[in-house]
This record gives sequence, structure tokens and C-alpha cells, in this order.
Amino acid sequence: MKDLISTKDISKDQLISILDTAESFHEINRRDIKKTPALRGKTIVNLFFENSTRTRTSFEIAAKRLSADSINFTAASSSTQKGETLLDTIKNIEAMQTDILVLRHEASGAAKLAAKHSKASVINAGDGINEHPTQALLDIFTIRRVKGGFEGLSVCIMGDIAHSRVARSDIWALRTLGVEVKLFAPPTLLPNDPNGLGCKVVSSKRDAVKSDVVIALRIQRERQGKLLIPSLREYARFFGLNRDDLKYAPKDLLLLHPGPVNRGVELTSALVDADNSLILDQVENGVSVRMAVMCMLRR
Ligand code: CP
Repeated sequence: MKDLISTKDISKDQLISILDTAESFHEINRRDIKKTPALRGKTIVNLFFENSTRTRTSFEIAAKRLSADSINFTAASSSTQKGETLLDTIKNIEAMQTDILVLRHEASGAAKLAAKHSKASVINAGDGINEHPTQALLDIFTIRRVKGGFEGLSVCIMGDIAHSRVARSDIWALRTLGVEVKLFAPPTLLPNDPNGLGCKVVSSKRDAVKSDVVIALRIQRERQGKLLIPSLREYARFFGLNRDDLKYAPKDLLLLHPGPVNRGVELTSALVDADNSLILDQVENGVSVRMAVMCMLRR
């Protein structure tokens, strides 16, 4: 692949190959000296038009550990503020003989457009409500590290699925791997065609937690024209998880969340910090997975 835009474009063999490569970087990332020369001489630019803590930092760390030169472009202080378009920005950054552009943008489709007009590789670091493929890759990597594989697994995605780029990327990747995907959310926060996505909608917390893995998602208030739930307190009561809800879950249920977490809304604080919460493992694994993706793109 020249670019990584969507997990829909990645075959099962390619997914496994990315996870295997990430596994070797995971070992390197636990060493005292965490550097490899794999991308020495390459230039990677992080173009983030939306806020980020985990994705931007981990792409920068990943690039540095691969010995690439990594530059952060900050939209707020760039010439986009003077009216320069996204494509002109991409073409100008590319003209500096850059190799990989990591793009986060509020518009769905921005990464695909950038990739079409760019000789440099483009990695989608989140485009609007569309996709966030490296988040899905680190999610499946995190699941495989604990469960050992994907056969017979069921994953429930719960929360604001309609506005979640993570959900869409997770669904494509998990379905490609043959994993059963359940969705649990208020009707206003479900995608339009859950069955078309190959997912089953469940209507109770009890059914949601009867899974091997729960991926809880944040309410994306910034992407909702008006709040699509009556109140956060009611949402937390009927669709958030607390310790009591887990009495119906298998003992080895894994809890994932892409972050940032609204403690007390989608998960109680106790669950965020519980032993079966892999939220910080996801963050650690994001570096290894992004190193693998950057190494594996064709340039
Ligand atoms: N999961 C994720 O994309 O987090 P950030 O928005 O902090 O990058």
C-alpha cells in the first residue's frame, strides 16, 4: 500500500502481517535503547487540523524511534488561517521532498483526497466521522496480545457509534478477522445500517457485556449538531458501564476505550482503572503499530 486511508482496504493477511511487525517493535519499545534505523533519512510530517493527545504524540515517537526526521505542522499557526486550501497545503509540504504525511482533519474524506493528489504516502490519523485506521489496528493488536488470536471472539462496541471514526475502522478490521461485532447504543447514536456493516445490535447492557471485549466510545458532542441524548446523567445510567453491570460479563472480559475518556459517563472511574482495563496498553501499543505501518507503506 502507498497510503493507509481505511481498514476496509486491508486484507486479513495484511492485517496479520501488520500485527506481526508491530510485535517485533513492541519488543524494541521495551528496551533501554528504543531506536532502529529502519526509516533513517525519511521525513515524516504530522499535519493535525484537530486536537490530539495520543495519536499525534505516538506518531511522533514512532517516527523518532525509526530514526526518521519528524516534523509537527500546527494548523492554528499555519497559512491555512490565511485561506490556503488543504490540497495546496499538502502540495507545499510535499514539495519539500517529504516521504510520509500523517493527516488528521475534521472533514470525512480529507485523507483520501490528500492521498489522491500526493506522491508522498498519506496515513489517515482520523477524518471527521469516517475512519481512524491506526486506532483500529492498535485495538486489534491489543486484543491479540491478550487473547492470542481472534477465532470465536465477540466484541461489543458501545457508545456514540454514529459519530465515531474509531467504530467504523474497528468494525471493518474485526469483521475481516472473522470476529462477531455487537453494537449497543441509544437509537440516535447507532449507525444507519448496522446489519449492512455486518454487526448485530443488542438492546441491553446485559447482552452487551456478554462478550470477550467491550470497546466503549466517547460521546462526541463536538460532532453532534444538537445533543442526541436527553442528558449525560441518563446516558451514563442506561448506556455507561459500572462494576455492577459486569456481573453478567465473563470473568476475563477486556475493557478498551480509544480515549479521551469521560470518566463517569461511558465508564466509571473504577472501571477505567480496573485490572481488566487495557486503556493504557492501547496507548503503549499505538507506538508499535504506527511504527509497523510507517515501515510497511510503499514509497
Ligand atoms: N484515540 C485518539 O485518537 O486519541 P487522540 O484524539 O488524543 O489522538
